Amino acid sequence: MNNQQILKLTDKYVAHTYARFPIALVRGKGARVWDANGKAYLDFVAGIAVNSLGHNHPAIVRAVERQARKLIHVSNLYHIGPQAELARELCRHSFADRLFFCNSGAEANEAAIKLARRYGGERLGGKYEVLSTHNSFHGRTLATLTATGQEKVRAGYDPLPPGFRQVPYNDLSATEAAIDGNTTAAILVEPIQGEGGVVVPDREYLRGLRELCDKKNLLLIFDEVQVGMGRTGKLFAYEHCGVEPDIMTLAKALGGGLPLGAMLAREGVARSFVPGTHASTFGGNPLACSVGLAVLKTLLQGGVLKNCVKMGKLLFDGLQGLKERFPFIREVRGKGLIIGMELEREGSKIVDDCLGEGMLVNCTAHKVLRFLPPLIVREKDVEMGLAILEKVFSRQ
Ligand SMILES: Cc1ncc(COP(=O)(O)O)c(C=O)c1O
Repeated sequence: MNNQQILKLTDKYVAHTYARFPIALVRGKGARVWDANGKAYLDFVAGIAVNSLGHNHPAIVRAVERQARKLIHVSNLYHIGPQAELARELCRHSFADRLFFCNSGAEANEAAIKLARRYGGERLGGKYEVLSTHNSFHGRTLATLTATGQEKVRAGYDPLPPGFRQVPYNDLSATEAAIDGNTTAAILVEPIQGEGGVVVPDREYLRGLRELCDKKNLLLIFDEVQVGMGRTGKLFAYEHCGVEPDIMTLAKALGGGLPLGAMLAREGVARSFVPGTHASTFGGNPLACSVGLAVLKTLLQGGVLKNCVKMGKLLFDGLQGLKERFPFIREVRGKGLIIGMELEREGSKIVDDCLGEGMLVNCTAHKVLRFLPPLIVREKDVEMGLAILEKVFSRQ
């Protein structure tokens, strides 16, 4: 099938929840993808921060092939070797003692919210409220969209579940003022807001939240669905700030493209989940976890994080250079290989033009071009991306 045929089928049979670009991608290698008509694109979206090792990485392909031949799925009625191993490795390399596997970022946050409620019920005298932040994004289930601080995500879903409130991001005093001593159980926050426009908070913000949570006896939950697993140049974004959360959520890059999410917690908190309190049929299945293990090993051994820092700097500096030349660029910000370029105007036209020139980029929060190349991106890919942007910007 060519692009047009696939577009037609999608339009006729698939729910209209996405405003998709008019191409169908059928093949990928490294930081390149090809559409059904054979056109190549430089991929600076990476499946929205999922394909951190690029497309078709040999370690992922090997893990899929090997595990698919052995066992794909059995359910959590039984023990699963790759799940246990991946859990051990994630705990070894993080603050956590124990984790719950699921299939997506929303499910990981749903698990975090449920755990916070159970912990609040048992250990905090019945507190249940989760404070999150304006402009945040935590998922599309009813609980996680209620935690999400964006009106457009919640519109049409009333009545929303109680127990959620939002405070301004990067504002410690507003957060402290909002804490209700009778109800607030947890603060849920992205270490860098992704969907909200690549918003990097002040250095002291996450540390301040930790102090606040310690002082008021609240749980601190970091949503690292987008920024975890190496995206910022460290395995987890919280490592940049020198403090640890009580709960952390992961998904996106965790499964290397297979649906895999996880909710990690300290032992004292994780204990509030006991048999029967939470579950997922697919969560942590042998195939997804085998690939997750291959991803984690490659991230830790292959110089990928170093490459992320190096290429992140190259891309950031190049984008800064463009900012000096094009007055409609307001700001460039980010960490590692999550970089946002805020414009004075809507970014959708630029995204369309980049697509025409053979480059995938994404626009979030209307005016922020978001760059999320694979962490294995090479210097010549970054240079090519910058050259395409320069050409597109010159036409504006
Ligand atoms: C920070 C964050 N949390 C949660 C989610 C939801 O993840 P999923 O789409 O896998 O449910 C996203 C998705 O963009 C995200 O960026």
